[in-house]
Amino acid sequence: MAKANTDYLKLPGSYLFSTIAKKVKEYALENPDATIIRLGIGDVTQPLAPKVIEALHSAVSEMGEKETFRGYAPDLGYEFLRSTIAEKDYKSRGCDIAADEIFVSDGAKCDCGNIQEIFSKDNTIAVCDPVYPVYVDSNVMAGRSGEYDPEAGCYKGIIYMPCTAENDFTPDLPGEVPDLIYLCFPNNPTGAVITKDKLQKWVDYANEHGSVILYDAAYEAYISQDDVPHSIYECDGAKACAIEFRSFSKTAGFTGLRLGFTVIPKELKLDGVSLHSLWARRHGTKYNGAPYIVQRAGEAVYSEEGRKQVLDQVAYYMENAKCIYDGLKECGYEVYGGVNAPYIWLRTPDNMSSWDFFDHLLKDANVVGTPGSGFGPGGEHYFRLTGFSSHENTAEAVNRIKKLHI
Ligand code: MLT
Repeated sequence: MAKANTDYLKLPGSYLFSTIAKKVKEYALENPDATIIRLGIGDVTQPLAPKVIEALHSAVSEMGEKETFRGYAPDLGYEFLRSTIAEKDYKSRGCDIAADEIFVSDGAKCDCGNIQEIFSKDNTIAVCDPVYPVYVDSNVMAGRSGEYDPEAGCYKGIIYMPCTAENDFTPDLPGEVPDLIYLCFPNNPTGAVITKDKLQKWVDYANEHGSVILYDAAYEAYISQDDVPHSIYECDGAKACAIEFRSFSKTAGFTGLRLGFTVIPKELKLDGVSLHSLWARRHGTKYNGAPYIVQRAGEAVYSEEGRKQVLDQVAYYMENAKCIYDGLKECGYEVYGGVNAPYIWLRTPDNMSSWDFFDHLLKDANVVGTPGSGFGPGGEHYFRLTGFSSHENTAEAVNRIKKLHI
């Protein structure tokens, strides 16, 4: 008799952002006159950059001509994109990453969720708390956790590393050594960053203990301060212990187009087994490559004009983040993030629970955010707002929140 994967049953409810979307939809149906402003999921709102659109049009035309039509893309990515990434994202920062260590995909979420497949089921994992839920949920689905403890708001068998205001939302090295360590900087959801010195300590720790760091750098384009590393490979020895995920979603507004990549250095081996080879085998078996037209659009992001256009978009969202940060600070909120990341992380007033604050903002200000507890027990009494809306909606949302305080 067939058996279902009952590890899925350990997951309470639905995926965080699906739960929020459902609640907001219900509220909108009951209150059709409400003008709801969405600062919840980190989804971009600005149209694609002109250079990206130009590249898409040109690639679409190629697909309509016999001589330039393309079928299946190479499953690890087109050489033109892989070598551009190696040059512009890594060599330019002094990181020795080769084009064939870059695996192009349809986004960082899929890669972050799928990467656990190339590790033994017996591996222990450590995550920051609060944390982007994909790292935890994908490992629970794969049987790498015990039951969910509703009291504690976490899974048995997973190491949660507290990220609090006291440690600047960067975790301390864990006492119990994990096999796999998920780190995300600039951080989702707290907006915190890690200095190069601190990140070096993680790399040294991983190399000393034989752990692998799974480093999510999806928000790298938002870094504004000098001492913040853009890639883990800026640290000595990282090629022997770290995998890095990058995304075009937040960098260039590709949330609807879909493009990302994962870097696995060839020297990263566990007991002589190359993780690069395993991921290549997995990619080749389960994936047919990101579409040609999308990879051409990705290449356009690195052109001189394209780069300038996407950086302007990043600056636009960061103005929103500043507007939220300053506005909330003015009316007495404890606020974090928003300097090197498009996320604002705020402490709920009067020690309200994260979900109560979510309901309060939705009903009394018609503003949607993300409850901190949805990111793990350490997020309780916190709340996340994004800078990804328009200037107008962001300013209006801040005004509405300020009025709640009068
Ligand atoms: C978020 O809001 O945390 C992100 O948009 C989710 C994602 O990138 O998958």
